[in-house]
Amino acid sequence: MLRRILRLPSPGGFSGLIVFALAAALFLGLGPVGLQAQQGGNVPGAAPGYNYEFWRAVRNGVQGNVSIPDKKAGVLVQSEGDNWRAVRNGPVSVIGGWALLGIIILLALFFLLRGRIRIDRGRGKRKITRFNALERGAHWLTAVSFLVLAFSGLNILYGRYVLKPLLGPELFASLSLLGKYLHIYLSFAFMTGLVLIFILWVKDNFPNRHDLEWIAEGGGLFTKGSHPPARKFNFGQKIIFWAVVLGGISISLSGLSLMFPFELPMFAKTFAVLNMLGLSLPSELSPVVEMQLAQIWHAIVALILIVIMIAHIYIGSIGMEGAFDAMGSGEVDENWAKEHHSVWVSEMKKKGAAKMKKAPAE
Ligand code: HEM
Repeated sequence: MLRRILRLPSPGGFSGLIVFALAAALFLGLGPVGLQAQQGGNVPGAAPGYNYEFWRAVRNGVQGNVSIPDKKAGVLVQSEGDNWRAVRNGPVSVIGGWALLGIIILLALFFLLRGRIRIDRGRGKRKITRFNALERGAHWLTAVSFLVLAFSGLNILYGRYVLKPLLGPELFASLSLLGKYLHIYLSFAFMTGLVLIFILWVKDNFPNRHDLEWIAEGGGLFTKGSHPPARKFNFGQKIIFWAVVLGGISISLSGLSLMFPFELPMFAKTFAVLNMLGLSLPSELSPVVEMQLAQIWHAIVALILIVIMIAHIYIGSIGMEGAFDAMGSGEVDENWAKEHHSVWVSEMKKKGAAKMKKAPAE
């Protein structure tokens, strides 16, 4: 199927996420419908003198000549569109839907088995400043815009199946139109937040030796009383940070490509760079195929990020006692800080940078 979408002559040595997702389409039997009508060579019911070869070429997307400026109009039938639709409405939507449901079920099970992760030593007498106003502002700019983008994006993929029957066509249409505008304009808030959190936190997100200990102890998430040492961010948070930054950049670029149709084609150029690493991806793609790949990629990265962020939101709110304060008031309980970021607390104290405050009486 991938070969048909990309119009490739022969199977190549592909790898990567797109290939996985598109190969999954074949695996699930959600194959293309576009070219099936011509199989067998005959067109049922065709009149005498019917030019099979000509219409077969048209059906296969042959490029003709047009006198208008938009040369894309020279392709009468863009066959890859069938494959694009089959992949979008098939494996991308289906696997994405299961992944969203799966992470919610997993977190519910985790909550039932492990319960809320408590501060083992109980709340202390002092609070320590963890994130300043700028850091919190950058976090909430990214988070709130991401949430609106996530809901309005999910509406584009699933709304007609989930919301339309509930709201009726009129309300659903108005809501979707509003969602479309929010999706477009808030993407700029998200990109701004992304740049800010990258600048503010990148220095704290490089791997260090404490990460191995954190991994060995499963982050202390599964065992009560286990508290692997960590600096400002532990290994799990570094994964979140890099997923947000790299996933965010990728989703922003493919989103811009969709926002300005045919103006910012990226896949042929990206494939050309990947080919330098020994792959044999097509480095010439028609403008319409560029758009179709941008849409599929945008949806896949968005779904992966949403799944990751559901886990992040769980642990930053109901999953762990004391965690939300870090992004709420910016001040965390000193015992929480010692249990989850012991090295960071000692470093801050050594530097004399630990801003401690008396915790208000409960
Ligand atoms: C809306 C619900 C959310 C809540 C309650 C929440 C909560 C938190 C908290 C408490 C922290 C600090 C953890 C610590 O002290 O170490 C944090 C960090 C962070 N948040 Fe969120 N967050 C939310 C949504 C998001 C979203 C949607 C994104 C990005 C798209 C995001 C990106 C990050 C990043 C990159 C960090 C730093 C790395 C980390 O601590 O995992 N957050 N969040």
